Amino acid sequence: MVVYYSHTGNTEQMARGVIEGANRVPGVVTKLRKASEASKEDLDMADGIILGCPTYFANLPG
Ligand SMILES: Cc1cc2nc3c(=O)[nH]c(=O)nc-3n(C[C@H](O)[C@H](O)[C@H](O)COP(=O)(O)O)c2cc1C
Repeated sequence: MVVYYSHTGNTEQMARGVIEGANRVPGVVTKLRKASEASKEDLDMADGIILGCPTYFANLPG
């Protein structure tokens, strides 16, 4: 499961790259979700979660 927040598209592009790479591994099933759309069920069913967001003033976006 790759979950991301992206305002201008850079992080989304990287998230899509991570999905593309993970999909090359046999047996791996991937899901891509915006942070605002990821449900508790999505997170519960995932064996692994990769989170991505831009840096805002050396911190996470709210
Ligand atoms: C308000 C604001 C603060 C930022 N602060 C930083 C920062 O502290 N360090 C940094 O490297 N980039 C900073 N950036 C640049 C963003 O992290 C960068 O443009 C990022 O690629 C945006 O990701 P997105 O296209 O997925 O929204 C800032 C951008 C904004 C709009």
